[in-house]
Amino acid sequence: MSAHATTTEPAAHLAQDAGADFEAWAARRAQRARELVERYTGAWLTPGSPLGEAMHYAAALGGKRMRPLLVWATGECLGADEAALDAAACATELVHAYSLVHDDLPCMDNDVLRRGQPTVHVRFGEAMAMLAGDALQTRAFEVLTSDPALPPALQARLCGLLAAAAGAAGMAGGQALDLGATGRRLDLQALRDMHALKTGALLRASVMMGLACAAEREPGLAADCEGALRRYADAVGLAFQVVDDVLDASMDSATLGKTAGKDAEQGKATFVGLLGVEPARDHARRLLEQALQALRELPQPARARSARLAELAQRVVARSH
Ligand code: IPE
Ligand code: IPE
Ligand code: MG
Ligand code: MG
Ligand code: MG
Repeated sequence: MSAHATTTEPAAHLAQDAGADFEAWAARRAQRARELVERYTGAWLTPGSPLGEAMHYAAALGGKRMRPLLVWATGECLGADEAALDAAACATELVHAYSLVHDDLPCMDNDVLRRGQPTVHVRFGEAMAMLAGDALQTRAFEVLTSDPALPPALQARLCGLLAAAAGAAGMAGGQALDLGATGRRLDLQALRDMHALKTGALLRASVMMGLACAAEREPGLAADCEGALRRYADAVGLAFQVVDDVLDASMDSATLGKTAGKDAEQGKATFVGLLGVEPARDHARRLLEQALQALRELPQPARARSARLAELAQRVVARSH
């Protein structure tokens, strides 16, 4: 199946959203993310292909789709091209899905439950989980490079942003710090740095990829917005993992769809471990304030169109799973 078929599809879904309320917009975009991911992982979903089934299981069957929502909210705020945003949104979700499959492996967090289902390695075996993660990651870069309607320079820019965010200076590097910190106490700065890498980097890249899509059409506006959007993305990215730490310590497994209480059990370095649940919640609220302040600093017309970015930041901090 050709990736091209999806990203060049007429994306009338954006225009019809003008004035729609946030919840309806977010539900439509989450559904769109699911459709794109299904299409791009469905090519291997043939009977007797455990790799294809594992990829589809890992990427298509659930999740809040926060990274695609950030891509779309950023790009739509700045007038980006719809096909470019679709490709960028899908690619961030594929890399995220891969990161979860590997995060759950016995050699990493050794988790058996994800999104209310057995983890990929429990369902398909460790070797297949490792390969499904590998293949989801590379698929993301195919998605970014297979639509001839996207200018080559934009394809390269999106690949660069995503690769940097996923690699040793981003998510993978943060995961290595996480493993190295297990059983140790990190100070606040070291914990912030670790969380900013393991989780923040991909969320920040989602915003930056939305911005890069917009820079094709509105280079001046995109350049003027970059600093404020970077501050927004940094705050949201860190808040996301602070809240993840809080939820692990304060919710049950049924609500989370993943095993609650695992961070303490495994001696993970977390905001809850360092500060306690309520101070960690307060920390997340302060990060939300920083994110909202950054949006207030956007130049017009972006500031007037940033309501969905504000709602997404609020959703990150108020979520229950
Ligand atoms: C979980 O991410 C892992 C972290 C980076 C904290 P999400 O909470 O976004 O997971 P899904 O995709 O919604 O399941
Ligand atoms: C994971 O952090 C960050 C990733 C890069 C996947 P966690 O290990 O806390 O994520 P969960 O709680 O398993 O979803
Ligand atoms: Mg982990
Ligand atoms: Mg984990
Ligand atoms: Mg966690």
